[in-house]
Amino acid sequence: MKLPEKVNILLLGGGGREHALARSLAASPRCGRLHIAPGNAGTSACGTNVDIEATNFGAIKQFVLNHGVGLVVVGPEEPLTKGIVDFFESDPELKFVPVAGPDEAGARLEGSKDFAKGFMTRHSIPTAAYRTFTKEDVADGEAFLATLRPPYVLKADGLAAGKGVIIAPTLDEARAELREMLGGKFGAAGSRVVIEEYMHGIECSVFVATDGAGYRILPVAKDYKRVGEGDTGPNTGGMGAVSPVPFADDGFMRRVEERIVRPTVEGLAAEGIVYRGFIFIGLMNVGGEPRVIEYNVRMGDPETEVVFPRITSDAVELFEGIVCGTLDKYELTVTPQWATTVVCVSGGYPGDYRKGLPITGLGVSGRPETIVFHAGTRRAGEQTVTAGGRVLTVTSLAATMRQALDASYRAIAGIGFEGMAFRRDIGRDLE
Ligand code: AMP
Ligand code: GLY
Repeated sequence: MKLPEKVNILLLGGGGREHALARSLAASPRCGRLHIAPGNAGTSACGTNVDIEATNFGAIKQFVLNHGVGLVVVGPEEPLTKGIVDFFESDPELKFVPVAGPDEAGARLEGSKDFAKGFMTRHSIPTAAYRTFTKEDVADGEAFLATLRPPYVLKADGLAAGKGVIIAPTLDEARAELREMLGGKFGAAGSRVVIEEYMHGIECSVFVATDGAGYRILPVAKDYKRVGEGDTGPNTGGMGAVSPVPFADDGFMRRVEERIVRPTVEGLAAEGIVYRGFIFIGLMNVGGEPRVIEYNVRMGDPETEVVFPRITSDAVELFEGIVCGTLDKYELTVTPQWATTVVCVSGGYPGDYRKGLPITGLGVSGRPETIVFHAGTRRAGEQTVTAGGRVLTVTSLAATMRQALDASYRAIAGIGFEGMAFRRDIGRDLE
């Protein structure tokens, strides 16, 4: 199977990740009409925004049929964990329209921490030791906590808007947290809680494209999750990212491939899961040995904003390989340049923040090495205004990480909106 020579594409999502995917798709000679649902003010420069939410399957179906869409690319996890792939495959009118992303069974790698941990155990994939508890066995959970050394890691089993992981410094706090989580703090997502061993090390993100049998490992990246400089303050969706990652050298990446990527792809197939999409592996480098923190079933954000700009081979053909089962023929090429991205966020994020604030300076940062990706933005008349916590993410490519960072920060100096905040120390821990 192949996609049409010119394929009309519907990309679901509306963040910085989707702007980066839209830019790479639009650059391909194979890209027909590109639609982004719902998109943001930036994606409208790459294609046509469509006012449909990424989880409104009924409206997506009508759009796909009315607009001759021949490929659906899913950005965020929610449509995947809600079964958009199964929805397409079981619909007589949609079943010939390929969707890049795993089905509901595959999406459990992200949708259920307990499933993901069980999967890793079944396939001998290195990860933190763990046990799962429900409210019937709180006492066993507390006893298990007492066998671990601090700090204590507790994870709500289901999706909890990125807030379901608690690192508790003391045993008392961990016990209290366990009771609160099983008592309904995260709703149904916390009806089961995974307690696991804390891993000491430095994190990186490995992205794998797979068609269910073959795979390609995309450029490795590191993101910065805490809102404050020096990795302080609350967790966010991500405040910046760099690619490549100095400590993820050839030897490390060989171990990642042998011990983690290959057993993951083979394990999915062995369990009867046909996985056509991205696997995002959050890794801890523990003294040179990679261990899995978590899986996600989509690309990362803001990692996509440094990974995709480094990919020089055709993006539509990458997706063709994923959905048609021909990835083994896809030649992935990557620039040796460094990519960095710095996220500009609304004042107050990740807490409460204002929306609708005009953004200035977007027209003037026209340096070739810098790309201003939009995340939470929208058009309001002639203006572009803020519409989310993460507003812009400013990516640069250069021969060194420092040059790329300097270019991103220079571009940010010319951009502004009331209350804009960003971290000035992206990449500094790697220098
Ligand atoms: P997750 O939502 O699973 O990515 O967890 C959020 C963050 O918590 C991760 O990015 C890590 O920084 C941290 N974390 C999760 N699990 C562990 C662990 N077992 N050991 C150390 N840190 C962890
Ligand atoms: N940057 C982390 C994520 O996309 O989950």
